[in-house]
Amino acid sequence: MATARQEGYRKDLVNLAAGHISREIFVNDEIYREELERVFARCWLFVGHESQIPNAGDFFVSSMGEESVILCRNRAGEIHVFLNSCRHRGMKVCRYDEGSTAVFTCPYHGWSYSTDGKLVGVPYFREAYRSKLDRSQWGLVEVAQLYNYKGAVWATWDPAAPPFLEYLGEFATFFDLILDGWDGREGQAEVLCGVQKWLIPCNWKFPAENFSGDAYHNISHRSVDLVGIGPSGQSRRDMPERMISRRLHVCIPDRGHQTIVYALPKDQPTPPAYQNSPEVAEYFRHCEEERRRRRTDAHGRLIGAPGEIFPNTALLPRQPRTIAVWHPRGPHQTEVWRWFLVDREAPAEVKRFLRDYYIRYSGPAGLTEQDDMENWNYAHSASRGTIARRYPYCYEQGMGSAVEGWEWDGLRMPGRVVEITQAQSSEEPMRNLYRRWAQFMEADSWDELAGWRHAGGEGSPLRRTGT
Ligand code: FES
Ligand code: FE
Repeated sequence: MATARQEGYRKDLVNLAAGHISREIFVNDEIYREELERVFARCWLFVGHESQIPNAGDFFVSSMGEESVILCRNRAGEIHVFLNSCRHRGMKVCRYDEGSTAVFTCPYHGWSYSTDGKLVGVPYFREAYRSKLDRSQWGLVEVAQLYNYKGAVWATWDPAAPPFLEYLGEFATFFDLILDGWDGREGQAEVLCGVQKWLIPCNWKFPAENFSGDAYHNISHRSVDLVGIGPSGQSRRDMPERMISRRLHVCIPDRGHQTIVYALPKDQPTPPAYQNSPEVAEYFRHCEEERRRRRTDAHGRLIGAPGEIFPNTALLPRQPRTIAVWHPRGPHQTEVWRWFLVDREAPAEVKRFLRDYYIRYSGPAGLTEQDDMENWNYAHSASRGTIARRYPYCYEQGMGSAVEGWEWDGLRMPGRVVEITQAQSSEEPMRNLYRRWAQFMEADSWDELAGWRHAGGEGSPLRRTGT
């Protein structure tokens, strides 16, 4: 497996023309090492939410790929993201999960850094360094680009990466469903404190492809459906509005983002939900009414569902409303971080009610998430063997059924769409994910990866590398 890259990922490993993907991309150590360089060191990655660091000096220690980073707010209130590694000998400068500080002091020899990353303290600077160390050269390593999108903080190590909004492309419509208020106002979300973190023994792409829109695995959740953990004591979720909607897989091919989404009919009122709590039911009834009045764009007609921003950020825009990141921790291990969001102006009772529901649904103790983890764990270990890895996985479901320009009753969807209202499921989102993954593994520059900049033109990278 020494020549995966030279052979071309799309030739045998990611064969989308046939709908076959090799198990090697999940279990091979060399491919994993190359992923860190070619995917995680180049992509925009979700770091955290501004509501986690409301005041000057606040910090939250996050992760980008395998690397620890510090998300913090400096004295002037500006947001920064730094590599959490001392410039002297690499010690983790900040060993806490979150907090507030004036400076980050390295526990090893005591170098200290201000919240804007400058090296401001060096023990025995005069005596041991004879005052000659150029401190301006030894500040914390900072990300190449940072963007605060409606409170969600994103960063990339790659100065050549396109600006975040360009990276996100038309997927913004679906990301907004999680960041905007339930009543349709922009950027109203806040994080319910306490990011849940846990390890699972599988490659990061198992959860990434599941959250890309696996609508096929309902059998896994049969027991939790029967238990009825939904907010009205029925099923898993409490979203009767989905029953009047058309269900879609929407994929943005040149970006590698994809999602399930529900399209509401134009003039039908949203059915009531959350009936177990009159206060919560009234809150959502009011918000739905406001949203559909306020948002005459696609936002007002859509109900979010699992989706994925390439490479490893998962969205669940409706209840439970969460963002997850699948941090790679070696080819055979993933560290999951899950943020829980609510409308920041929601009444305390609504927040409390949702917190209880989120916890019983998601996270390491959440009934639904446990079902998923069982599958990924065993699928990974059962795919690692010498014999097992000779046989590709099957991604043939729904091949050839995607359309462009999907439109219904004044609602037009971007990208490539497979309607799954009747079909129930397709694997278009997974093919979309791995098409983009293969492009990253092969392309040497962002000029090749940003195919939309010269889409359709002669020599367009997307045309050239097709499938
Ligand atoms: Fe940080 Fe030496 S490793 S001061
Ligand atoms: Fe699931």
